[in-house]
Amino acid sequence: MRVLSFCFLVFLSVLSSCSEEKKPATEATEPPKFSTPIHSFSRPNQAVVDHLNLDIHVDFESKKISGSATYDIRVTTGENRIIFDTRNLEIKSVSVDGVETKNWWLGPEQPFMGVPLEVEVTDSSKQVSISYATTSGAEALQWLSPQQTAGKEHPFLFTQSQAILARTWLPCQDSPGIRYTYEATVHVPKDLMALMSATNPTQLDTSGVYHFRMDQPIPSYLMALSVGNLEFESVGDRTGVYAEPSILATATYEFADMQKMLEAAEKLYGPYAWERYDVIVLPPSFPFGGMENPRLTFATPTILAGDRSLTALVAHELAHSWSGNLVTNSTWNDFWLNEGFTVYFERRIMEAVYGEDYANMLAILGWQDLEHTLEEFKDTPNDTKLKLDLMGRDPDDGMSDIAYEKGYFFLRTLEEQVGREKFDAFLLKHFTDNAFKTMDTERFLENLKRDLLDDSEEKYAGYKIHQWVYEPGLPSNVVNVGSSLFAQVEGQLDAFMSSNDVTAIDTANWTTHQWLHFLRKIPADVTLEQMSTLDKAYLFTSTGNSEIAAVWYELAIDRGYKAADPAIEQFLIRVGRRKFLTPLYSALIKADPTMERARMIYEKARPNYHSVSTNTLDELLQIEL
Ligand code: BES
Ligand code: ZN
Repeated sequence: MRVLSFCFLVFLSVLSSCSEEKKPATEATEPPKFSTPIHSFSRPNQAVVDHLNLDIHVDFESKKISGSATYDIRVTTGENRIIFDTRNLEIKSVSVDGVETKNWWLGPEQPFMGVPLEVEVTDSSKQVSISYATTSGAEALQWLSPQQTAGKEHPFLFTQSQAILARTWLPCQDSPGIRYTYEATVHVPKDLMALMSATNPTQLDTSGVYHFRMDQPIPSYLMALSVGNLEFESVGDRTGVYAEPSILATATYEFADMQKMLEAAEKLYGPYAWERYDVIVLPPSFPFGGMENPRLTFATPTILAGDRSLTALVAHELAHSWSGNLVTNSTWNDFWLNEGFTVYFERRIMEAVYGEDYANMLAILGWQDLEHTLEEFKDTPNDTKLKLDLMGRDPDDGMSDIAYEKGYFFLRTLEEQVGREKFDAFLLKHFTDNAFKTMDTERFLENLKRDLLDDSEEKYAGYKIHQWVYEPGLPSNVVNVGSSLFAQVEGQLDAFMSSNDVTAIDTANWTTHQWLHFLRKIPADVTLEQMSTLDKAYLFTSTGNSEIAAVWYELAIDRGYKAADPAIEQFLIRVGRRKFLTPLYSALIKADPTMERARMIYEKARPNYHSVSTNTLDELLQIEL
């Protein structure tokens, strides 16, 4: 193996772009099929993958995945190389069309991007096979000890590939604009079950060997694997739940409405393209609420509230089966196309299943998140645009509530302007026409103009499209969402704040979302006595509802309400979901800028966190490693 110098790589790419530009204008040139990836070294217009055959061993002793990734490839005439992304991978050998070759090179490492693997091929090459192993730098992977699982007896492994971590567990062309089908053979310890974003087993196979197929082409960020002591239970004819045995019953109770959600989604925007929709409930260190791995959503156990009140998350990940997995953002600059559409679709599913009041409460809570994020980003207004410019930045930096909630309010505003019927017809066409394709912001806006909006100049300007997408902050035409349920909550909160008397207020039959609104609206000058009174009456500190806990704990830290301290520490040690951790650690730092308490807890908690969370928190807590 030779290490290719960076200069040579740059030289090659300059050469190839020059030769493209110098083609005579008269020559009929086919437009490039792929836009140039931003966060991938691959050059799909030169050579691209079509299908992957993955054969790997999962070894819990050495905490390594090793094996081979064999790709069917397509090489453009005249090109002589194919480039893959790798990061912290050990590349052992490479074959082209079944014959081992020495003509492959690793480029220099770049921060967060990793290392390009370039393989020499010819016009007629059909297959490249890469033998590799992961290392301790595999940031996608979290290897959990038995102690970190519900059952405490078996280890557990899960991956998190989005946005650009797939390359840390397999060599791949790691751009959302490149899709391929896959099959996989996965060898695991005989007492554990393996699951992927593919066809899945429902029972343990005591041979420890599992075969998977994903026949619909997907981008690499949707590659996923989970290995553990898992069982399956069906909740509908196309839906089911995987979880560790001790939480399976709780999980199936919580997700009983999944089939209804799936049917509601299909009624809105067309048939579900992935055959089955199952959810796996992971251990609490999973760094996200959910991840839309096709056929198998990965979910945090922190949504198991016991009363089905946090299942909008399932609707969200299910909605990605259309927005994201079927029509995929072309680059991470277009992330809002994935997430804004998904939040819109999620709330439409929730409205269809649970009614308008429910969906509007979700929208208002989302609005509050958006206001908060706009305030937080007031010194970096570029990050409040829908279309991002993440060139040279880690895509993880751009993934804020802006894509989700500004994206949602843009679409909801459009819906109100054109009427739901026309808007739904447009979205159905969008998903149908672009199924299994990628979409960028510019093409979406062209389609929007062509297929939906009144293009008389005056009317078009009224939509403020350019401002929504390319400018910071919020346009003045944003819809205003109201909720009489929340108005009632505010009335009761005022009554309490002026009377200090819980018997004077009516909270009967309040749902989780009403409580969340109540807690978020508690004024910053609430006294410790008032907090204590509320806590005694409503048991916030010991709540089993993670969303309620997270808001209450943040308030407790801000106000110095010490009675919650032990519960806060336990929560931070048990839960690895970044959305909860960042605000809580930030509050701890604000309350004690020496960071003594924050770092004391972090030291205990960090071994339980996935790299996605530790990367953010190491920075927040200024931890030097
Ligand atoms: N695809 C995202 C998670 C993600 C985003 C992972 C960017 C890596 C990079 C997922 O669909 C998501 O949005 N999860 C949310 C759920 C919520 C909005 C209902 C989460 O994890 O909190
Ligand atoms: Zn999402």
